[in-house]
This record gives sequence, structure tokens and C-alpha cells, in this order.
Amino acid sequence: MPVINRIAADAPELTEIRRDLHAHPELGFEEHRTSAIVAEKLESWGIKVTRGIATTGVVGSLKVGNSDRAIGIRADMDALPMSEWNNFEHASKNPGKMHACGHDGHTTMLLGAAKYLAETKNFDGTIHFIFQPAEEGGGGGRVMVEEGLFDRFPCDFVFGLHNDGTLPVGTMTAVSGGVCAASDTFKITITGRGGHAAGPHRSIDPVVIGSHIVIALQSVVSRRVNPLDSAVLSITQFHAGSASNIIPETAWLNGTVRTLLPDVQDEMEPLMRQVIENTAAAHGAVAEFEYKRGYPPVVNSLEATERAAKAAAKIVGVEHVLRERRPGMGGEDFSYMAQKVPGCFVRVGQMHTSRENKGAHHPLYEFNDEILPLGASLWATLVEQELPRE
Ligand code: NI
Repeated sequence: MPVINRIAADAPELTEIRRDLHAHPELGFEEHRTSAIVAEKLESWGIKVTRGIATTGVVGSLKVGNSDRAIGIRADMDALPMSEWNNFEHASKNPGKMHACGHDGHTTMLLGAAKYLAETKNFDGTIHFIFQPAEEGGGGGRVMVEEGLFDRFPCDFVFGLHNDGTLPVGTMTAVSGGVCAASDTFKITITGRGGHAAGPHRSIDPVVIGSHIVIALQSVVSRRVNPLDSAVLSITQFHAGSASNIIPETAWLNGTVRTLLPDVQDEMEPLMRQVIENTAAAHGAVAEFEYKRGYPPVVNSLEATERAAKAAAKIVGVEHVLRERRPGMGGEDFSYMAQKVPGCFVRVGQMHTSRENKGAHHPLYEFNDEILPLGASLWATLVEQELPRE
């Protein structure tokens, strides 16, 4: 694969950076160590750094020549609140925190491109390296945009990437339109009447009613949403009770809804409310339903996608750039940036051949260091392509 030679030569250094970040994962808006490393490295390469956007976000700006064209490239820096099961040397040293989505790799790839571009300066224009906090639920991308990201650092286009363990190394995607789902969350509080477990007739059991609600909600997607549209409704938490002989007063259910189309997203809350409130009422309980809209869907602009595809083809060959692919139901807060500036979110295949592939958010997940030079080369190539010297 024609990765940029100079970046290939930096592969050992990039691997070292990535493994150091992996060993020291930090949660959203707490990426103090990570963002300090990012800022110091950018400065050491002569890149102008702005710190503290969205608390721990960092933007590195590199201007070469006189052109007023500018592009932004974004990487996420945060880890997940989970314990790592890997036992290699660079496994997480922070209990209960893990880079299980490869954001350590995304950050390192962008650093690799920044180093190369700062050294070679073979472009004319401005590149903003955007390192964002809190992709995993905190909406760091939204906060950066709200804090004036693109007013302070105007960009003609913005790009981002995610590693993808279902695609082989040497494969990239550049697909226009919707590529990631809207990601909403909800909380259900069922209030019954607590009492002795031996006298259920004197209680209203929120565990049984919660179970009915879990089952009843399954038919929202299967019976109420158009089968040609996509929706996911997952109940991920069910909390109630404190002892084997007590019927609890209250039960709490939490979960997530994923949709690809705005009108389907609009439908879900009222449909769910109908099922939840009426199922509870049918059993003499009261259910409170809170629905919170999360990340909007990521929609890739046609123009930005063509540009990303062209750069990707230079790295992996045109036959290894997927131009059509079903969207994923995962959420991604790159969406907030792509709503402001034409954007493209690409995926970079990272399938391991030497170990089992565990999906993102699995405690045995591992970023594949082989793809660090590929991602860094993609960004560097994209910059040289989009900001050409006259
Ligand atoms: Ni991720």
C-alpha cells in the first residue's frame, strides 16, 4: 500500500504514542493528560495551538502560503467507562476506563499527519487539526461547535474517521448521505406500591410491570415503524429492589433508540410513551417517561465525500475504497460538525489477522497499530490534494 514513506518511517513512534494513550485512558471532558500530550506535540512541531475548547479540546492550526482555503480534520480523544480484559503491557492502567473504541488510534493518526505536514509544508492554505473530547455520549463535538469552533477556525470542509474491525486492513469507505444513526436515550420510572413479597395482592409490583413494558416495547419497532425504515430500541438497564422478600416500590429502565431518518426519530417518542404509560396504567402503576434526543445522524456531503474518496484511493487503491455501504446504527457526534460545514466521515478497515477481532466497546477490543500509517497518510494526502500549491 502506498502510504507516505516519511509517515511509514514514523510508524514505530506512532505506535509508541498510541500505546501510551491506550495505557492512560481518560473519560469525556477529563482528557487532561491526553490533550496536554496532543498540544505539546503539536507545539513542538511548530503548529499554533488553541487549548481549552469544550474543556479539554485542542485545535492545532497550520497555515502555509497565502491561500485562504482551509480544511478541518477531527479526531476524538476519549475512552469508555469499562474495565479492560486485555493483559498486554500497554493495557489500561486506569481502573474502570478503557480505550475500547480506538480513539487512541484516531488521535495518533491525526498527530502523525500533523507532524508530517508541519515538516514538509507541501500545501497552500490552512489546516485545522481538531482534537475533540467526549465523543462517547458527552457530545464534545457539539460543545466545540457551540463554543464557536468554525467561527474561530473557519473550514471549507471537515473530515473525520473511525476504525472498523469488520473491514480488512487496506480498505476504506467514502459513502455519501447518512452513515451513522441518530442516537437517543430514555429513562422509564415505574412507581407501584412496595410491600412484603409474600403478600403481592397488597402491592403493585413494578418488576412485573417493568417486564411487561420491556416486552410491549418490542412491538414498537416490529409493528409500528415502517418495515422499510430502520429503528433500534434497546433496553439496556433494569434496576429494582433490594432483597428477596421485598416487592420494591419503584423500578427504573434505561435504554437507547437509534434511527436513520428524522421522521422516524420523531415517531419513536410518542409511540413509546403510549405503550409505557398505558401498560403501567393497565396494572395500576404510574410510569414516568423521559426521552432525550442525542446525536443527530451523520450525513456525509456529496462533495466532501468525493474528495475523501479521491485521497483514500491514492492510499489503498480505488478498488479498496467502498463507495456504497449500509449505514451503521451507532451514533457519532461528528454529526454536529458535519451539520455546520460540508463533511465526510470515513471508515478505515482494521481487521486483525493475528488475533481475534473483538468489536468496539468490548473489553478485549484492541486497536490495530498496522493502520496508524494508513490513517495518517490519508489525512496528509487529503490536505495536499485539497490545498495544492500553485
Ligand atoms: Ni468510537
